[in-house]
This record gives sequence, structure tokens and C-alpha cells, in this order.
Amino acid sequence: MIRLKGKIALVTGASRGIGRAIALRLAKEGADIAINFLTDQHRAEAVCQEVRAIGPRAVALQADVRREQSVLDMIQRVVHSFGRIDVLVNNAGVEYEEPIEATSEEHWDDTFAVNVKGLFFTSRAAARIMAGGKGGAIVNIASRFGFLGDPHSLAYSASKAAVINITKAMAKRYGPAIRVNCVAPAYTPTDMMAHVTKEYQRATQSGTPLNRFATPEDTAAAVAFLASDDAAFTTGQTILVDGGYSLK
Ligand SMILES: NC(=O)c1ccc[n+]([C@@H]2O[C@H](COP(=O)([O-])OP(=O)(O)OC[C@H]3O[C@@H](n4cnc5c(N)ncnc54)[C@H](OP(=O)(O)O)[C@@H]3O)[C@@H](O)[C@H]2O)c1
Repeated sequence: MIRLKGKIALVTGASRGIGRAIALRLAKEGADIAINFLTDQHRAEAVCQEVRAIGPRAVALQADVRREQSVLDMIQRVVHSFGRIDVLVNNAGVEYEEPIEATSEEHWDDTFAVNVKGLFFTSRAAARIMAGGKGGAIVNIASRFGFLGDPHSLAYSASKAAVINITKAMAKRYGPAIRVNCVAPAYTPTDMMAHVTKEYQRATQSGTPLNRFATPEDTAAAVAFLASDDAAFTTGQTILVDGGYSLK
């Protein structure tokens, strides 16, 4: 499907995992892609090559979304490279899996700095550019745990609940020019989830009506829909991409 021809998209945390899949899907839909990364320039450049092989233009941009000045510099570099921003996907995220009793102040602060503060500053900066142009679409990445809560990663779950809430508030503030939506994926085997046990995987799969794990491409497909005009009358919403896990 080619729904984003001529659009400019910025995807945070796109050097690997779900962010990489989102970048490639938006490129297949016709968008030029700015690929943000924190540390892994090599992998970010590799994703750029994959985008260019599909056809659209790509640029890799280092920025730490925890720092507002770093975010502002990144947004300026997207505008410098491509002239504007039509689509922002706030995908960068971290999780520290640990019991409530072991949750440290450092991990709590870092979780909220990346997953909430970073998403807020990136959205606000991109919205200024979108509002000065033809408008746009913001898609945030939350998690099923933003609905369910998870005692094994409480800070992470709370941060993703905040993402779902920010999505609603920003949709009210930025309409009609800008739509703001969210995708909440289930367990997806990526670097972030490298620590999970076979037992966790078995329990997740058997508790999922569609009887498999999520893939990065499942989330990317929902993001592409929300970024496109097919979702022209949808804002403030969160799509759970969890194979029905949360129904039980
Ligand atoms: N995997 C799952 O099961 C799952 C489930 C639900 C939701 N999610 C959400 O989906 C998103 C992507 O997850 P993933 O599994 O693909 O993660 P991942 O494989 O760990 O990749 C994380 C990405 O975020 C970037 N990043 C981390 N901190 C950053 C910062 N301060 N500034 C800019 N970029 C930063 C990393 O950049 P570098 O490579 O340069 O370090 C990397 O590109 C996250 O928001 C996560 O919470 C994941």
C-alpha cells in the first residue's frame, strides 16, 4: 500500500527492533524517513540503507530524547534535510524489569525520562513544525502494560499509561491540524525482551487467542494506518496490538 507518498516521517529509536520495522513500513508506504538513534550509529545507517533500497530518502540522526535541546536540534536537522515533518512516531523506549522492591530511583527516573519526557518534548517540537505547515500525524508507542499494569516493571507500566493519557491530551490540543494516536504492542521478541524466559514465552503464547507473539511488523502496520489518511477521523485513540491477550 502506498498511503504516505511524499510525506516526511521521523521515527525515534529506529536503529533496531520495532522502530526499524516502523521505518521500513513507512518507507514502503512512500515516506522519506529520518531515523533517530541514541548510541548505535552503525545499525541506524544500516536501516537508512534498507530504506533507500526500498526507494525513499533516509537520514540517520543521533539525539537523546531525554534532553530537550538534543530533541530541538534533531527536529531542526529533519527540517534541514527534508523541509518539514508530516509524521512523528515516538517509538524510543526503555524498560528495566525488576520487582517493585528492587526498583531504584535511577531506573524510575530514566524510564520516565525516555518514555514520557522524551515523547512529550519530541511531540511538542514536531507539532510546532507541523502546525506551521499542512498539519500532520503523531503516533506514540505505548504497551499493553499501560492498560494492564505489571508488578515486574512497574515504572515501565506507569510510563506507558502516561503515554496513553498524553495521547488523549495532545489530540485535544493539536486538532484539527494534527492527529495524535497510539499503538500498544504486546510482547515482541526484540533486544529489549532478550531477558525473557522460555516459560514467559510459553505463558504469553498460550494466553493469546491468536496463539503467537507479536512481530515488529504487526505494530508497524498499525502505525502506518494511524499515520495515513485512512485514519483521517481518528484521534486520541490507542490500538492494542496484542493478539487478544488483554481480553482474558
Ligand atoms: N519489545 C516489546 O515486547 C515491546 C512491547 C510493548 C511495547 N514496546 C515498546 O516499543 C518501543 C520499541 O521497543 P523495542 O523492543 O524495539 O526496543 P529496543 O529493541 O530496545 O530498541 C530501543 C530503541 O530506542 C532507542 N533509544 C533508547 N533510548 C533512547 C534515547 N534516550 N534517545 C533516543 N533513542 C533511544 C535505541 O537506540 P540505540 O539503538 O541507538 O541505543 C533503540 O533504537 C518502545 O517504546 C517499547 O517500550 C516494546
